[in-house]
Amino acid sequence: MDLRIGVIGCGGFAGYAHGPALAALASRDRGITLAACCDLDGARASEYSQDFGFARAYTNLDEMLDQESLDAALVLVAPRHTASVVARVIPRRVPVLLEKPPGLTLGELDHLIQLADEHGVPTQVAFNRRYMPLLREARAILDGDFPPIMEIHYELIRFDRRDPDFSTTAIHAIDAVRFLAGRPFQVATIRFGDSGEGSGSADATIFIEGEDGLSAIIQIQPRAGLVSEGFRLHGVGASLVGQIVGPGGAHSSGRLEYWRDDALKYSYQDDQLPFVEKHGIYGELAAFCEAVTAGVQPSPTLAECRQQVALMQALRERVSRPLDLRDLAESLCSA
Ligand SMILES: NC(=O)c1ccc[n+]([C@@H]2O[C@H](COP(=O)([O-])OP(=O)(O)OC[C@H]3O[C@@H](n4cnc5c(N)ncnc54)[C@H](O)[C@@H]3O)[C@@H](O)[C@H]2O)c1
Repeated sequence: MDLRIGVIGCGGFAGYAHGPALAALASRDRGITLAACCDLDGARASEYSQDFGFARAYTNLDEMLDQESLDAALVLVAPRHTASVVARVIPRRVPVLLEKPPGLTLGELDHLIQLADEHGVPTQVAFNRRYMPLLREARAILDGDFPPIMEIHYELIRFDRRDPDFSTTAIHAIDAVRFLAGRPFQVATIRFGDSGEGSGSADATIFIEGEDGLSAIIQIQPRAGLVSEGFRLHGVGASLVGQIVGPGGAHSSGRLEYWRDDALKYSYQDDQLPFVEKHGIYGELAAFCEAVTAGVQPSPTLAECRQQVALMQALRERVSRPLDLRDLAESLCSA
């Protein structure tokens, strides 16, 4: 099946991440057509269409949806607009790959889940870490002979991030831990630091208990002296150590080590990969297109992100009481 793709939002991340990934996929797969892109800023939309090879550019989303018979759309607008834009696309029955977070609140997310369910529209949330080759290597090891995970430590450390709401970045760490854990969370407590200026920008530590005795600690630090992101994950006699991003940020190389009984059993380095592949942007797009073409549900769906969004919202609202997340593991989606 040919897939006519439209992009909504041609800003920063669409430009250095999704645009190159879309152009690479279209050049490798002749079934992919970059049909149209749309931005409220006309110059930006038209420059984007030229840079990445879209057939047409629009400034009005509804006009694009009226004119183009899209088979799939990427929603790449800023987080405060994501839920309202996705809510305009789903009733057109166009499958959506949407940037994280899938709504700013659990209420916004649940509204989208209901809409997608009502209209039978496949959705995938662009939690790119899940499609990073390094994380996929980790997942494969965990699905192999790794013993049950006892604990996960995850750090998301940034330098001089003064975003008024850092929770929309911190959700990456929450989702990565959910992906590595491979099982739902049960309860969580957040301890807040005081380095931030805005309510959502403070440093924080999230303590999570999950099913089958899992415990996880997530350290969020937006104002440290370096950029670093990684995890340590332990089972009896087995450990995985992953450095996703190091000093130098997105262009640094990542490394995964698998240790058994204090001996290095396997290591993986991602320094040969182009940016969009290393960061999972290409992988998530290819997986989304494949799922839409095959008529199956891509992953993670909106409904799989309820616990992550609830924790993101609690970070922003500085909720320090223990949070029972068990009900949120249930999908609202009847499909
Ligand atoms: N996965 C990651 O590592 C990562 C990194 C950065 C950003 N992001 C995500 O990417 C998304 C975009 O972030 P950004 O920094 O590129 O934002 P941005 O503000 O640079 O770009 C957003 C664009 O959307 C356009 N837009 C807004 N409403 C629109 C509408 N109704 N119709 C058409 N265009 C519209 C704006 O004009 C703007 O050009 C966010 O959801 C963010 O969370 C993800």
